Amino acid sequence: MQLSTKHLLGIKDLTQEDISLILSTAAQFKEVLQRPVKKVPSLRDITIVNLFYESSTRTRISFELAEKRLSADTINFTASGSSVSKGETLLDTVNNILSMKVDMVVMRHSASGAPHFLAKHIPAAIVNAGDGINEHPTQALLDAFSIKEKLGSLEGKKIVLVGDIMHSRVALSNIYLLKKMGAEVMVAGPPTLIPKYIAEALKVKVEYNLQKALAWCDVANVLRIQLERQNQVLFSSLREYNLAYGVTKKILDGLPKEIVIMHPGPINRGVEIDSDVADSDRSIILQQVENGVAVRMAVLYLLSPKSSTLVNG
Ligand code: CP
Repeated sequence: MQLSTKHLLGIKDLTQEDISLILSTAAQFKEVLQRPVKKVPSLRDITIVNLFYESSTRTRISFELAEKRLSADTINFTASGSSVSKGETLLDTVNNILSMKVDMVVMRHSASGAPHFLAKHIPAAIVNAGDGINEHPTQALLDAFSIKEKLGSLEGKKIVLVGDIMHSRVALSNIYLLKKMGAEVMVAGPPTLIPKYIAEALKVKVEYNLQKALAWCDVANVLRIQLERQNQVLFSSLREYNLAYGVTKKILDGLPKEIVIMHPGPINRGVEIDSDVADSDRSIILQQVENGVAVRMAVLYLLSPKSSTLVNG
């Protein structure tokens, strides 16, 4: 089976079948990653450039590891220390790299739409590793994989995204994916951090009371306050944010049932989530990171020119 798309620019463009194919392929790669020899030759002779114009820890390392596990050749580009500081455009940078026979591009950029722009101008397959406040498709896919692994399915599950919905590409990609796969989705947080028309536009529930939101859900995906993307004061202080919207052990202990806690990272401990929640048995935060490698292997493999070869090939 093949994906319906040449690039992975966003979850918005994927069909339900595409998402199921990526998740089932990721399950096969997760099995590969449990073996003593964690490497398969699936992408031998394929060269992938990781273009990171914005900071990253998890996504960059996860993509690089996924590429190495697939036996691809990898090049890592970070904007700092490159000729971007001398005025080179995104398109010139990428065309120069592609002229060295690079097959695929993984890109993170602070500008929403940067990978979509690139996809119109270059022949290589592009994977969006996060663009501005638009989408972070592989994060949503690894979140979905982790929920499925923990709860058995996505259909009918109640997921709440908590926090800075307004500036979160993780939230938007999760909403698109979870709705396509039949989950019920709620967003919760202060009114200033939730877009006004989100309920009508994306068909999600909205809740401004954290306790009520957590009592409703099976899974809470807690998001970081994206201070780097806010150009105005949207809440009074981090301390007050924690008091009203911080996920604490006390709130969780008062709920009628145990819920699963997720966070895409990086965590701001003591702001959106307390340490005794992030590090507890209810948290699957590090499983999300682990699953990211298998999910990114699946995405790269399915978008590559070699996607007709076998995982065990
Ligand atoms: N979740 C995520 O995108 O983390 P990084 O910014 O560290 O890649």
